[in-house]
Amino acid sequence: MTTYILILRVLHIGFGAFWVGTDAFLTFLLLPSLRTLGPDIERRVLAAIIRFLPPVLMVSSLVTFVSGIFLTGIMRGWSVNWVFASGWGTAIFVGFVGNVIALIVGFGLLPPLMMRTDRLERSFEGRQPTSAETTEYDKLRARGTMLTKLNSVLLIIVILSMAVARFV
Ligand code: HEM
Repeated sequence: MTTYILILRVLHIGFGAFWVGTDAFLTFLLLPSLRTLGPDIERRVLAAIIRFLPPVLMVSSLVTFVSGIFLTGIMRGWSVNWVFASGWGTAIFVGFVGNVIALIVGFGLLPPLMMRTDRLERSFEGRQPTSAETTEYDKLRARGTMLTKLNSVLLIIVILSMAVARFV
């Protein structure tokens, strides 16, 4: 049992740190810096990283999530009675809920929004966008930025709730 827990912890913490770290780096450092360099450089860098980033983040998030569920089940049993029985249970539950919302936002809501933004941007390549297109484009980008930040804040809340779980 101890070996299982050890393996699960290594997977959980390793992939979780990678996922949250990469996400925070993108949201708070890389994307804002790219924006200051202009649309041409921004598009080229995004096109280069978009090839490997979604699968890498998807694998990391799934390994973190599944190993977290198994860690909880093995440590406290498969009944959810532990949730409000202790501060530990509440903290892990908060992490679980934050993690589920982050998965929905990150893999359900953001990708179609990004594809719509990209399609619109390509449609006015080589010509001036109309004012309606500019308004639509700005709206999509603002929504994308808001969701990306929301997702990162959720992941930070999840990692904080994990960090304090055994002390509350
Ligand atoms: C973004 C997602 C997550 C990240 C980054 C993350 C990170 C971490 C970290 C760093 C620890 C070590 C804390 C410590 O040993 O004091 C931990 C422990 C743990 N996590 Fe997560 N976690 C995530 C999601 C989840 C989910 C969804 C669950 C299950 C519902 C979960 C269940 C656990 C459990 C049971 C422990 C062991 C706590 C203990 O040893 O007392 N985690 N997690």
